[in-house]
Amino acid sequence: MKVLLINGSPHKDGCTYTALEEIAKTLKEEGIGSEIYQVGTDVEACRACYACAKLGRCVINDRVNDFVDYAKDFDGFIIGSPVHYASACGGVTAFMDRAFFSCSKAGKIETFLHKPGAAIASARRAGTTATLDQLNKYFTITQMPIISGRYWNMVHGATPEQVKQDLEGMQNMRILARNMAWHLKCKEAGEKMGVPMPKEEEITFTNFIR
Ligand SMILES: Cc1cc2nc3c(=O)[nH]c(=O)nc-3n(C[C@H](O)[C@H](O)[C@H](O)COP(=O)(O)O)c2cc1C
Repeated sequence: MKVLLINGSPHKDGCTYTALEEIAKTLKEEGIGSEIYQVGTDVEACRACYACAKLGRCVINDRVNDFVDYAKDFDGFIIGSPVHYASACGGVTAFMDRAFFSCSKAGKIETFLHKPGAAIASARRAGTTATLDQLNKYFTITQMPIISGRYWNMVHGATPEQVKQDLEGMQNMRILARNMAWHLKCKEAGEKMGVPMPKEEEITFTNFIR
């Protein structure tokens, strides 16, 4: 089993990465593989063209489409973002909007469906809980169980060194990782015991138009 750790920060080796690294180390101790995926800085925003419904992929032919193909082999997801103006940063928002939307419209929702997810946020000072609320919405619209830590999943610092000094934040990353590992092992055990996945219904859309 393996978890994809998504670094939404423009900084490849920054504060968010430092927190994700602690998660990766703990997952490894728990026998769970992981990989840190860098979102990068050049992600175009969703054009809201709905072409993905016809094309089976996002019309913008960049690595978001590669990510969607790559992500299907992972069993869980942790999205990390620095806080920018009390929200997730622009790059990860653009990336996740397109990844989740194109998956859902292109019949590829199995990439994420029922797989556990968690969000983590890195901030110098504030805006973390709003950022976590934002990122958790990708999971709740996709029937993905959200994995918790013992505090809201945040680290504080303007540099990786400061993040490492945030002992409580770093401890929470380890607790989150162990909870993710435990959930994955329980899910696997359930599958082996023949516990069926939840029955799907045909989805109804109502747009509040009278
Ligand atoms: C455009 C921008 C906006 C930011 N807004 C906030 C903010 O609202 N609250 C905060 O505490 N830190 C804010 N920061 C600081 C970063 O969130 C913080 O340094 C973070 O830990 C950096 O993580 P990274 O190294 O992974 O990019 C902002 C930084 C930038 C560049």
